[in-house]
Amino acid sequence: MILDQSLNKILIIDFGSQFTQLIARRIRELGVFSEIISHKKIKNKNIDISIKGIILSGGPLNVYEINRYSFDKEILKNNIPILGICFGHQILSKLNGGKVKQSKHREFGLANVYKKKDSLLIKNFFNQKKIHKVWMSHADQVSKLPKNFRVIASSQNSKFAIVEDKTNKFYGVQFHPEVTHTENGKKIIKNFIFLICKIKKNWSSKDQKMKLIKEVRNQVGENKVICALSGGVDSSVVAQLLNKAIGKKLYCIFVNTGLLRKNEEKQVVDTFKKRLKMNLIYVNAEKEFLKKLTNVSDPERKRKIIGNLFIKIFERYAKKIKNVKFLAQGTLYPDLIESRSVTGSQTSKIKSHHNVGGLPKKMKLKLVEPLKFLFKDEVRNLGLELNLNKEIISRHPFPGPGLAIRMPGIITKEKINILKEADYYFIQGLKEHGLYNKIWQAYAALLPVKTVGVMGDNRTYEYLCLLRAITSEDGMTADFYEFKKSFSQMISNKIVNSIRGINRVVYDITSKPPSTIELE
Ligand code: XMP
Repeated sequence: MILDQSLNKILIIDFGSQFTQLIARRIRELGVFSEIISHKKIKNKNIDISIKGIILSGGPLNVYEINRYSFDKEILKNNIPILGICFGHQILSKLNGGKVKQSKHREFGLANVYKKKDSLLIKNFFNQKKIHKVWMSHADQVSKLPKNFRVIASSQNSKFAIVEDKTNKFYGVQFHPEVTHTENGKKIIKNFIFLICKIKKNWSSKDQKMKLIKEVRNQVGENKVICALSGGVDSSVVAQLLNKAIGKKLYCIFVNTGLLRKNEEKQVVDTFKKRLKMNLIYVNAEKEFLKKLTNVSDPERKRKIIGNLFIKIFERYAKKIKNVKFLAQGTLYPDLIESRSVTGSQTSKIKSHHNVGGLPKKMKLKLVEPLKFLFKDEVRNLGLELNLNKEIISRHPFPGPGLAIRMPGIITKEKINILKEADYYFIQGLKEHGLYNKIWQAYAALLPVKTVGVMGDNRTYEYLCLLRAITSEDGMTADFYEFKKSFSQMISNKIVNSIRGINRVVYDITSKPPSTIELE
């Protein structure tokens, strides 16, 4: 059970919808804490006074399965307002004595809903109009309303598109107010949490900062904490939060694998050691990594070697700091949500991502995971609140194995140097043309083929550079970014003219899936 009892909240009971996280984010954007828990895990005994409202999410289950899902019906008897969304709306009706059936007409995409009656839930939602565009995604629907319910709005195919039981404060919507396609959908969520649940705002970066600092202090007391700092957003925010909370009891270890971006080690040391005055141990392990990777070209072997060596080095240095009791990690909320297994998605292992997960058990360390209730955008805002600069906060993600997985084939120092330069010119170009923040992730890769070119009057025979730039929400799916011809031309010229070793540039136009974001 991962419910945080220290803050009032809106609880989202997840039935496996792909939009559940979006519901939580919308509520938090409105300044209120929200938590997600699987319908299989929540029991009535877990409902405490911090829960001021409950949302039942949508889900992939159908009308035939509705009798088989597990859900503790006692939860409905706590006198807490409940909003059911899509499948959640169907369940709420069913549990209160209504009926659900398969619709004759399935509704996917935009639909019009027509207002029938006033309700707090739809205050300022319809504005002057009586018709409103919403986003539907369902095959089943409520066919008979429970006794105390009445219809607030209908669509052509769903008579019970918005319903309420005013006495019990139960509400149901057949559409998805959390997606941006539903015009003004946030208003429904806003009305539910503020007008119906009457919860007060309690969730800003400043609130989070104070709360988390206090919690870290309580958890670690006078003990020492170690943290692997990579310079990425999550580990930077964790490190700075702990720095503020426990100062010199925090020991950050930054391992230079030699596979970092150009000047990255200097930036990390300058920021954390010089500017933020952190206890930073800088380990230059470039040679050790390169040696272990000699003649290795298999992607999974590369990843394993790097992951294992990283842990070994980290452990070596951590042992030198005596009496360490805790390891701080930048685990985020999406990694933690228990209900992920409900949807069954994204669980197959495509690549072995490396982290320091093996350490706590081996070294008998306890984990400090202060970001475990935060989404990525919240971590970024918290970072700004903690005085980290924008450049660190808005940095594109960078994989643990670094440039090694952007260099198919064997890894050499010469190739690393060429790649660092190409990546640097590409990223600089994006920044100078105001494109960096429009792109979720961008990088240069060096392919293990040489092709023929001509420069001046001379034949060249050099490496092929691949550029990748994608847009994405969370890295799970991605699309390539479409550059203007003038930008592509400028970057290609810059790379080929400035870097000895590259004479051709190609752009990766595959989406994920079927490709992945990294090459290996
Ligand atoms: P893929 O290539 O799996 O990448 O589509 C999805 C996102 O994950 C990042 N990535 C990693 N991050 N350690 C990390 O910390 C890793 O081993 C790793 N491999 C991929 C990748 O950069 C992208 O943002």
